[in-house]
Amino acid sequence: MRLKGKTALITGGAQGFGLGIAETFVREGARVAVLDINGDKAAEAAKAIGDKAIAVPCDVAKGDSVDKAVAQVLAAFGRLDIVVNNAGISHRNQPMLDVSEEEFDRVFAVNVKSIYLMAKATVPHFREHGGGVILNIGSTAGIRPRPGLTWYNGSKGAANLISKSMAVELAPDRIRVNAIAPVAGETPLLATFMGEDTPEKRAQFKATIPWGRLSTPQDMANAALFLCSDEAEMVTGSVLAVDGGRCI
Ligand SMILES: NC(=O)c1ccc[n+]([C@@H]2O[C@H](COP(=O)([O-])OP(=O)(O)OC[C@H]3O[C@@H](n4cnc5c(N)ncnc54)[C@H](O)[C@@H]3O)[C@@H](O)[C@H]2O)c1
Repeated sequence: MRLKGKTALITGGAQGFGLGIAETFVREGARVAVLDINGDKAAEAAKAIGDKAIAVPCDVAKGDSVDKAVAQVLAAFGRLDIVVNNAGISHRNQPMLDVSEEEFDRVFAVNVKSIYLMAKATVPHFREHGGGVILNIGSTAGIRPRPGLTWYNGSKGAANLISKSMAVELAPDRIRVNAIAPVAGETPLLATFMGEDTPEKRAQFKATIPWGRLSTPQDMANAALFLCSDEAEMVTGSVLAVDGGRCI
């Protein structure tokens, strides 16, 4: 039990990578709050995970929603040790000039502003309680960008770099901040990245990954488990590529 006695909140925890992380954290002894804009799906996920999980509806792009959700988590658990900023979206794979201004704003609000809003809501609590752990889900998109995803790639580059900057600024408060950079993974978001989910597109994406397969929620959960556990006490400011060698 590598997270025994810990409490964690995981945004976008109703499906995909976030759900994999939530299941694994509970298996390793944590109590977990599944925050998601899809409240019904979050409730379903929490129910399936069991009585160590609660569901909290939250739009991570809105300050009042984040504040309310964090207050709910603190009321339920009494304290918070780990924040996983996982919720993220992308515009469909398309030429960069075809992405609308509204879509651009939404991608940056969900993928980048959310990290700022969550920090405002949780860092004071971590400071008061002697520390904490923040894990941001960045992307290989922010290290080795693919065409057709320019604005998404930029948002993930920001998430990767913000993680490092937060790490140096918050280290004196014993708050560790790391990021995971997943390669294309088996989640509902994959079709958006590929433009269309066809065997040819999948083969094309796979061909760029030396390890020879797409990533899975369990791959991300395994990396998240290490980075959020006390075993990683000396690890802060890292952007861990979980990518089968894609970024080399
Ligand atoms: N799947 C991939 O190939 C891949 C690769 C690299 C990085 N990532 C990143 O991993 C993270 C998880 O992606 P995924 O593939 O599991 O996606 P997903 O679409 O399967 O799941 C994302 C979850 O986030 C929730 N969500 C969306 N907007 C939200 C908001 N405003 N507030 C709260 N919740 C919201 C959704 O309801 C959903 O449950 C994202 O940050 C994504 O950018 C994914």
